[in-house]
Amino acid sequence: MSPFRITRTLPEDATDAALRTDVRDGLSAFPRTLPPKWFYDAHGSDLFERITGLPEYYPTRAEREILVDCSAEIAAAAGARTLVELGSGSSEKTRHLIAALTGLHTYVPVDVSESALTQAGRALIAERPGLGVHALIADFTAPLTLPDTPGPRLLAFLGGTIGNLVPDERAAFLASVRGLLAPGDALLLGTDLVKDEDVLVRAYDDAAGVTAAFNKNVLAVVNRELGADFDPGAFDHVALWDAENEWIEMRLRSRTAQTVKIPALDLAVDFAAGEDLRTEVSAKFRQEGVRAELSAAGLELTHWWTDREGRFALSLSAVR
Ligand SMILES: C[S@@+](CC[C@H](N)C(=O)[O-])C[C@H]1O[C@@H](n2cnc3c(N)ncnc32)[C@H](O)[C@@H]1O
Repeated sequence: MSPFRITRTLPEDATDAALRTDVRDGLSAFPRTLPPKWFYDAHGSDLFERITGLPEYYPTRAEREILVDCSAEIAAAAGARTLVELGSGSSEKTRHLIAALTGLHTYVPVDVSESALTQAGRALIAERPGLGVHALIADFTAPLTLPDTPGPRLLAFLGGTIGNLVPDERAAFLASVRGLLAPGDALLLGTDLVKDEDVLVRAYDDAAGVTAAFNKNVLAVVNRELGADFDPGAFDHVALWDAENEWIEMRLRSRTAQTVKIPALDLAVDFAAGEDLRTEVSAKFRQEGVRAELSAAGLELTHWWTDREGRFALSLSAVR
């Protein structure tokens, strides 16, 4: 068997059907919304990689610092033979963890972005001969069937991506993650922490405009896949801190009153001047909240690491 396998867990038309449903529901509602998973076509995945290197975007550097410093400790605590990573993207930071997991048998990266999975998988097998890489093209918010590989399993969810789910979605997601774990398995969760508003807003509104291009890429995806006529230049990128919910919102704000046609859905959407389309929330966390959400899902937080500036946390949890 080749050491790199890639499996599409849903038929191609299911992705198309999900996009149609999300666009129809999200653009017919007030306020208008689109889920962040549609940012990540090949171009969106490349743009996200550029974001991770921006001076304003501290989360990737902070999480990498923790992984560099603490992977040996994480590996000793988890002793995993299978590492599953949800929303793995480039798997770039995960390399530190993979290197520390000396008994690792299989790495299972799971992502909606086929281009990211293919690039990451090929690089990893070249780097660690003997490691099996079984990539899954799948939506981590839908029920997942994992390959039958040896335990214990460590399930990693890095990058603060859990913050893209609102509280009800997080509760359902963590319950389903708990269902994938057996006694002796563990969850490694990356959470961005609440901090100064200016630092947070700048991380989502960089001076070079890469995050703005990433945000607008969702319009290009809807244009290409559903024949829509969004003019990305007719929308402004906006990043706002919602202090009550403790999350950043990314929005696209219509510059003028305009009607966007989406022929594949037989839909016309009227935007008022200044009307917002919410494309992402990115919740920020505190240790007590993370512990409580994990506990509600039947998981017990056993370790908590932060970077030296206390900006980002990695937590390890066990099945209760
Ligand atoms: C914020 S990026 C983080 C990437 C990487 N984990 C990191 O820390 O740099 C989110 C990743 O999750 C993937 N993603 C977003 N929503 C997803 C979903 N519903 N199911 C599977 N993957 C998803 C994206 O394609 C992207 O690779």
